[in-house]
Amino acid sequence: MKKVTVSTLLKRRNNGEKLVMSTAYDAIQSRLCMAAGIDFMLVGDSVAMTQLGFDNTLPVTMEQMLSHTAAVRRGAPEAFVVFDMPFMSYQTSDAEAMKNAGTALKSTGADAVKLEGGAEYAGLVRKMTGAGIPVMGHIGLMPQRVQVCGGYKIVGRDAESADKVLEDALALQDAGVFAIVLECIPEELGRKVTEALCIPTIGIGSGKYCSGQVQVITDLLGMMEFKPKHAKRYAEIGQLMTEALKNYADEVRSGTFPTPENTFQ
Ligand code: KIV
Repeated sequence: MKKVTVSTLLKRRNNGEKLVMSTAYDAIQSRLCMAAGIDFMLVGDSVAMTQLGFDNTLPVTMEQMLSHTAAVRRGAPEAFVVFDMPFMSYQTSDAEAMKNAGTALKSTGADAVKLEGGAEYAGLVRKMTGAGIPVMGHIGLMPQRVQVCGGYKIVGRDAESADKVLEDALALQDAGVFAIVLECIPEELGRKVTEALCIPTIGIGSGKYCSGQVQVITDLLGMMEFKPKHAKRYAEIGQLMTEALKNYADEVRSGTFPTPENTFQ
């Protein structure tokens, strides 16, 4: 399969093709995403909640993100993989951020990094892209700021915050990001931002006018109890897994597993 690059994504967006992104957190998931024809993958800091059992994304460390991203790369050597910069890996200083982004690309084989933040990060994004690190922006709802925002809330419902989302998008584009995640903004604002930019917008809970969509793989597959409004479950894998494990437990207890077929003589 031909390697997807930043220019492939831009070309597809310019041809009017919708871009499809999913999170992936391990080698099996990335292999399945590739087999399904997903355009590109995000090793999201959502791994904290979907795989590591935390209540929000803040606790995940650089080391954990590096380990998950390397696994995703091993499962899909040809995929375009984005490394999500975890909380406090880029906020303390530009030097620290550059070092961490460089490590992310060099040690995992990721193709790009993503960071949450608007115009206030334009200077850092310029430094990264200037050094050859492709950067994806992330504005609207920024889960790493959940503590200051007082929860996960839709952003851009009033004129002032809608203007700020658009300003942030333009500032990030100007700084050189190759695409921007728009999380949980009203659909019309998603359309306005998408029309104002010449790079792809990748929406999550931001309506159908974005250049593409990203979803969390465990939401898509029905593996978590909580179902966010913006997500659609395309399968009930959690339920299937519970049923399979229950069948296994029943068969061990009743002595019907293992059978001769599963036994060495
Ligand atoms: O971490 C993540 O999964 C994300 C997506 C929600 C875009 O940032």
